[in-house]
Amino acid sequence: MPELIVAPSVLAADFSRLGEEVRDAEQAGARWFHFDVMDGHYVPNISIGLPVLESLRAVTDSFLDVHLMIDDPDRFLTPFAAAGADMITIHQEASTHLHRDVHEIRRLGPQAGVAINPSTPAETLSEILPFLNLVLVMTVNPGFGGQAFIRSALRKVERVRAMAADFGLIDLHVQVDGGIDPETAPDAARAGADVLVAGSSIFRGPGTVQQNYEDIRRSLSVHV
Ligand code: DX5
Ligand code: ZN
Repeated sequence: MPELIVAPSVLAADFSRLGEEVRDAEQAGARWFHFDVMDGHYVPNISIGLPVLESLRAVTDSFLDVHLMIDDPDRFLTPFAAAGADMITIHQEASTHLHRDVHEIRRLGPQAGVAINPSTPAETLSEILPFLNLVLVMTVNPGFGGQAFIRSALRKVERVRAMAADFGLIDLHVQVDGGIDPETAPDAARAGADVLVAGSSIFRGPGTVQQNYEDIRRSLSVHV
């Protein structure tokens, strides 16, 4: 399994000082940031988009993982790749031609990820898995930060990791997103997740951004 990555989700950052918030997390060791795009249609919320990604790209070399929570993501693959995404993750439930979209992402340059909601079975990915760099197992229903971790998703993380092993995909990233904090991160890692997205617990947690990031890292080194 790839090395464990803690990916701060900038959705929970203070957008008026986004560059500084990202720099604080980088000082604690973060090198992978999760960027949530919501269209007010696929999910009942609107967040950030292309101009913010461009601005962030201009101030960091860290890996930018763009989670598109939008309908018909094929319409926006080219602009998000051009704006500097290192990875683009689309929802299995929102893409009409998933195979085409995944190949298009890779043709444009970024790595390709597919996300599945809490009610979507892991098995829906069996045909697309060999073409992916990452599977995102949602541990909340997408649309909002600060929701409670859905524990039943852990079994799905185990299933995705087992499916990947069956295909010999040892480098496949399995990401969890939603409700990740120092308590839940070790459970997700033990189930087989290697990329742990954390928004509220890092940018709105009890300590500084650096302390909050380090608390999650410490929980992983102690409990996994
Ligand atoms: C939810 C987003 C998440 C969100 C997670 O729809 O996809 O990336 O930022 O936020 P927390 O860590 O606060 O649950
Ligand atoms: Zn996300």
